[in-house]
Amino acid sequence: MYLGIDLGTSSVKAVLMDDEQSIVASASSPLDVSRPAAGWSEQDPADWISATQDSIAQLKRSDPALLAAIKGIGFSGHMHGATLIDNADTVLRPCILWNDTRSHAEAAELDANPLFRSLSGNIVFPGFTAPKLLWVKNNEPEIFSRVAKVLLPKDYLRLWMTGEHVSEMSDASGTSWLDVGRRQWSEPLLSASGMEIGQMPTLVEGSRTSGSLRRELAAEWGISGDVVVAGGAGDNAATAIGMGTIEDGAAFISLGTSGVIFAANHAYRPNPESAVHAFCHAAPDLWHQMGVILSATDTLNWFAGITGQTAESLTNELGETLRAPGPVFLPYLSGERTPHNDAQIRGALTGISHQSDRATVTASILQGVAFAFRDSLEALGAAGTTVDQLLAAGGGSRSSYWLCTIATALDVPVVVSDAGDVGAAFGAARLGMLATLDDSALSLCTAPAADRIIEPEAGLRAAFDDAYQIYRKTYPAIRSIH
Ligand code: XUL
Repeated sequence: MYLGIDLGTSSVKAVLMDDEQSIVASASSPLDVSRPAAGWSEQDPADWISATQDSIAQLKRSDPALLAAIKGIGFSGHMHGATLIDNADTVLRPCILWNDTRSHAEAAELDANPLFRSLSGNIVFPGFTAPKLLWVKNNEPEIFSRVAKVLLPKDYLRLWMTGEHVSEMSDASGTSWLDVGRRQWSEPLLSASGMEIGQMPTLVEGSRTSGSLRRELAAEWGISGDVVVAGGAGDNAATAIGMGTIEDGAAFISLGTSGVIFAANHAYRPNPESAVHAFCHAAPDLWHQMGVILSATDTLNWFAGITGQTAESLTNELGETLRAPGPVFLPYLSGERTPHNDAQIRGALTGISHQSDRATVTASILQGVAFAFRDSLEALGAAGTTVDQLLAAGGGSRSSYWLCTIATALDVPVVVSDAGDVGAAFGAARLGMLATLDDSALSLCTAPAADRIIEPEAGLRAAFDDAYQIYRKTYPAIRSIH
């Protein structure tokens, strides 16, 4: 039995996976995000531990024998967050999350130093970890002076579970401190942002071991043997392990709080100019590229909130047949990464008329997110990756209408699997399994069976292409008036 733990932005999810790689039990506990100022987004790391304990307690109540049988644990976690601890491992301030944009000026400052793009292979985005530390240095110098280690969110859970300060390559890639091509911390990048290598956790590969479960926790959970804890992965690389996205060019599209188009690469292929992310994957000698949009299902949830509906009732109202493109919606509710790297831009809805009812706006929102994904697909193309099809992942992929909009806007078939949960928590459990085996076991990470392929809607392809050109022109126009 293997335990996969996904520390998500809105919940912790824990799954138990058996030797046949079937999920046999799962539990989850909600998490809140606090937004104490405009552009800020924080969580208290103590809440991650309580939510994880709560999920494990649920598993212990429902399936004590299965929990007692675990041999390996893997983690997935939301990326980039700065968890600052002192030399007694005490947390110094709330974790500044991936979607917090307060450090945009610091990010621009670091990004202007050519070393960052050349060694880390990526733009220094405001959500990444290094600019957050520079912000803390500039604004909370007393806290900065006490930082003994900077941990990524799931690595703080690992510290609690194993007592070890360890990170792994995929999540470390999103700090701006990793030499992503060499898979090691970069001393020049650390010192360029006022940090030292001693403040970094030790690095392992995501599919290899990082330590063992502490005896006290094992006893509390009813486990008698030794339990290996894998390096784990950032949520996107973990999802890729769950979806079997490990071959060169294999790709998935994830419709979660944020949206991601992810492609696996057998070589390191950075292209920061197109705002594509080039990161290490969660297994040795593998990398990946991704385009990241900051608001995917968040946009629909926002509209559901202001209309007093649920996201599901809004998409149900659209029916089955794809509509012709409607008013332009820019989904930049909290700025955008790929392709603009613009923390200040905000969303827009243009071209509405008397005929625009609620369903028209819902369709525009889904279309706007689809066009944002098309921007990411083009960024991947500029970085040398061609995508033949996209496997659908994330909560938003339950809407066939949305997937059809995406297939048509991107002119790429979208593959849907009804295999149930094959996302980040499953990928985490697989990493827990891989850490108990040798590297050749990566081949066990197969893709789920395809149950449906959603093809682009041929009759609307040209209209969507035209609408995408208008969408492209809307961003600079809106930007120029704000
Ligand atoms: C990736 C990213 C998000 C977060 C939240 O770069 O910021 O996908 O990991 O899920």
